[in-house]
Amino acid sequence: MEIQLWREILSPYELAVDELTLKFHHIIREYRRAGLYSPIEQVDGRVKTISSILDKMQRKKINANNIEDKLEDIAGIRLICQFVEDIEKVVEIIENRSDMEIKSRKDYISQSKDSGYRSYHLIIYYEVNTIYGRKKLQAEIQIRTLAMNFWATVEHSLQYKYKGNIPEHVTDKLLQASDAIVILDREMSSVRDEIMDAQNSFRK
Ligand code: GTP
Ligand code: MG
Repeated sequence: MEIQLWREILSPYELAVDELTLKFHHIIREYRRAGLYSPIEQVDGRVKTISSILDKMQRKKINANNIEDKLEDIAGIRLICQFVEDIEKVVEIIENRSDMEIKSRKDYISQSKDSGYRSYHLIIYYEVNTIYGRKKLQAEIQIRTLAMNFWATVEHSLQYKYKGNIPEHVTDKLLQASDAIVILDREMSSVRDEIMDAQNSFRK
């Protein structure tokens, strides 16, 4: 496919990522301005690169005609929370919005992936308006704690380094680390109330 055609396909996804990122940042701002604790700590967004779209098309045997249907994560948003408890709150916020419609969910928190990966995933439908008219597209929202994000970031670097074939002694360590993350998140939750009280008295 020509680069120009790729740009046309990806352009609405860029808009979606920009809009969604802005909207989630604004949620943080609204909470903070109200002097409230924000269940979202950090927002990241990206449009999948052409090369990783091509990789995934090959891996999942997706042909060029239905990329936009089959690739649910061309637009990707990551919402990072301080505490595990915040994740369901964030899901609720998304459920209650009129501009995001939940298509499907994957809960890799109650049941982690075999790798040890933990996160809550939503696929949403989101409408953008371009000069060609309206377009409803899909976006993937990953919701996870800072600790889960730490793990996923390191594991991702290792996947990259070992080109997807992480040696067993390293995957073993990652599984141990993943269990340690669960314990850490649990311990952090136990101090959550105190942190929230402190934040409310130091309100910015
Ligand atoms: P892909 O994994 O993207 O091919 O799609 P899928 O249909 O298998 O969905 P899945 O829910 O497994 O993964 C979606 C996304 O979650 C991935 O693109 C990654 O960003 C993230 N993810 C899933 N598994 C892992 C993992 O083991 N490690 C890390 N670091 N990220 C993962
Ligand atoms: Mg996968």
